[in-house]
Amino acid sequence: MIPRPSGVFSPGGYVLDIASAGVTVSADSPAGVFYAQQTLRQLPDSFVGRIEDGPRFAWRGVMLDVARHFMPVPDVLRFLDLMAIHKLNVLHLHLTDDQGWRLEVPGWPRLTSVGAWRPRSMRGSRQHGLYDDTPHGGCYTAADLRRLVAYASSLFISIVPEVDMPGHMQAALAAYPALGSASASSSSAAASSSGGASPSFAGEVMTAWGVSPFALTLTSSTMDFVRAVLTQVCDIFPSPLIGIGGDEVSADISAVVAFAAEVLASHGRRVYAWDDILTAGAPADAVIAAWRGTLPAVAATRAGHQVVSCPDMSCYLDYRQSDDPAEPTPVGTRLTLDDLYAFDPVPPGADPALILGAQANIWTEHMENARRVDYMAFPRLCAFAEKVWSPPGGNSPDFHRRLADHLPRLDALGVNYRPLSGPRPSDARPDAPGNPRTHADREAELAEMTAPLRKRFPL
Ligand code: ACM
Repeated sequence: MIPRPSGVFSPGGYVLDIASAGVTVSADSPAGVFYAQQTLRQLPDSFVGRIEDGPRFAWRGVMLDVARHFMPVPDVLRFLDLMAIHKLNVLHLHLTDDQGWRLEVPGWPRLTSVGAWRPRSMRGSRQHGLYDDTPHGGCYTAADLRRLVAYASSLFISIVPEVDMPGHMQAALAAYPALGSASASSSSAAASSSGGASPSFAGEVMTAWGVSPFALTLTSSTMDFVRAVLTQVCDIFPSPLIGIGGDEVSADISAVVAFAAEVLASHGRRVYAWDDILTAGAPADAVIAAWRGTLPAVAATRAGHQVVSCPDMSCYLDYRQSDDPAEPTPVGTRLTLDDLYAFDPVPPGADPALILGAQANIWTEHMENARRVDYMAFPRLCAFAEKVWSPPGGNSPDFHRRLADHLPRLDALGVNYRPLSGPRPSDARPDAPGNPRTHADREAELAEMTAPLRKRFPL
């Protein structure tokens, strides 16, 4: 039996009795009292009665990508506030990627002096080959991150940090080229992109979107690097789970994952990783973020892993909200508010006891500031929050009625949510065109991506 990670999973049930004489809260935990307060803030003054409430899932998460676009500390603090009022309790902070490295690591100063900055950024989807001319970057000090952890904790939110390895590493390789090389099956692409035969990396932080063909290779000096990075991460973040990525890399990742797991275990922590690590053989106690459709959640629970569901077509909030041509940088498949309300974190065939919950993933290639994040996150995150808190099913007309009462609260908080009537003219990004996909396109891509997984776990 895999022990449940303590700490990440606050309980949260409460009973609220509201009479004209006063309000009584009973709860099994401080988190429950906190959630009762959030509910109370949302009730009409005239409400009298009893509310018995509690979450369906322990992991009610959001992944925020602060690597593609750096998000300054005050904006992350504000995002935590918005999570809390929606009773969300896990912020998966994606701290590193090809396009930027966002945390300071003692002994490795170039990670931030070099890896946190890029000279320009792609504008729109990569098919269009457009760039702006504006340097972009930033990083968090240890003190910044401790402040985020402490503030999140006061809102009963745990921050689960992620350092993506061995792929998605070009920002670190720009700082320390000796750490990596072209990953196995992409060496010819890397050789041609580096203009010749050499597969070693010599270049800048990635300025295009997409995935670099270069990855970390495990040698004694990269082991020092991984140890230093994960030790610093464990020092700052109390989370029992630490994200190590593992996604979208053609290199053999088993050795890196095993080594990272060993370092984390020495600090009493466990691996949290994308479902790509299942194929190579995930550590038995790894928690899996299942993103490539619903099949990985089924495979992972069959293999005994705890799972956080985040199938892209239901949970990726960078995907476009409608087919309106004015949607900013339309990418991925269409994911409307109602599609999100139809999401169930437990896919057919998965063991419900092993589904810890779900998370909405906010990849920020096309969200250069908090206003853009607001637009893509809300109001879809309101629907998501209900799917991870309330019993399965739901009542869509009732949700829409309650949302109509909720949107003025978001207005009062200054949230730049997408209007239900569609994008405003100022939301459009004609200068940053997208690459919208159909469900059939994406199903075909996912079938190809998960072929090795299906071979390993015939379902
Ligand atoms: C992912 O979308 N690469 C996890």
